[in-house]
Amino acid sequence: MKPKVVRTVSALRRETASWRKEGLRYAVVPTMGAIHSGHTELVAEGLKRADRVITTIFVNPKQFAANEDLDKYPRDEEGDVRKLGKAGTHMIFLPNPGEMYAPGFATTVSLSGPAKAGLEDKFRPQFFDGVATVVAKLFIQTGADYAMFGEKDYQQLKVVTRMARDLDIPIDVIGVPTVREEDGLAKSSRNVYLSRTERQQALAIYRNLTNAAERIKAGVTPQAAAHSAGRTLMALGFKVDYVSARNAESLAIPQHRDEPLRLIAAAWLGKTRLIDNIPV
Ligand code: PAJ
Repeated sequence: MKPKVVRTVSALRRETASWRKEGLRYAVVPTMGAIHSGHTELVAEGLKRADRVITTIFVNPKQFAANEDLDKYPRDEEGDVRKLGKAGTHMIFLPNPGEMYAPGFATTVSLSGPAKAGLEDKFRPQFFDGVATVVAKLFIQTGADYAMFGEKDYQQLKVVTRMARDLDIPIDVIGVPTVREEDGLAKSSRNVYLSRTERQQALAIYRNLTNAAERIKAGVTPQAAAHSAGRTLMALGFKVDYVSARNAESLAIPQHRDEPLRLIAAAWLGKTRLIDNIPV
């Protein structure tokens, strides 16, 4: 099925109004394009819950810092539309930057709580305000019943869940487990930056997180297990931003035994920044 591509908020609202008239429920899948099976899994999960799925593609300048990869972020509109059509998306919202941020745009959603956990926020200070601003707009523009987000970006999932609740946006944010390559590497649009050798090395992040989770289950303290996973990655040549065991809900540093835990990591391999996380 060929999805309908709309590029303006007014065209989007015309379409969703007719779905509403028919009594249909619909989900939104926000993306920055460079579609892979992690994204199409979100579409598949959306189709399980709702009658229609809208995927949005927008490389959001507000969440990139000046030194980051905004200009070289992979873009492939034709390929994305084809893959999303195959996955069953009914509509694709593909606004240009001027449609999202009209001249004079002056509003930012500013966050605390999970957005200030000292993980991604510590290394990318404007990132979550940029994400929350665009995601709030997408929630309001689409008026969707459900929003599908990947656990791959675990802190982001917690941040947008909190934001929707705090701003009374009537949308149900659903987290979807991380889709991985056969060897365990988390699928990411940024994996295309990896050289052949780096692609092999990259797997060490998942492997060390898994190992740390086993050690925690065997009685090692979460901090000690996370710390030694970080040291191992450094020894393997990664520049480690963080490897941390956190409360799976609040993202706070664990205080008690028996808290639900999430191991979360970010590390550079050459010029590529990789993130991953797993439950304990
Ligand atoms: P992007 O990196 O394109 O990711 C879009 C969605 O796909 C996010 O919810 C992300 O967690 C999910 N995703 C990516 N890789 C995945 C994987 N391997 N398994 C499962 N889900 C995966 O995240 C963003 O874009 C942006 O910050 C956005 C939310 C669109 C705001 O601009």
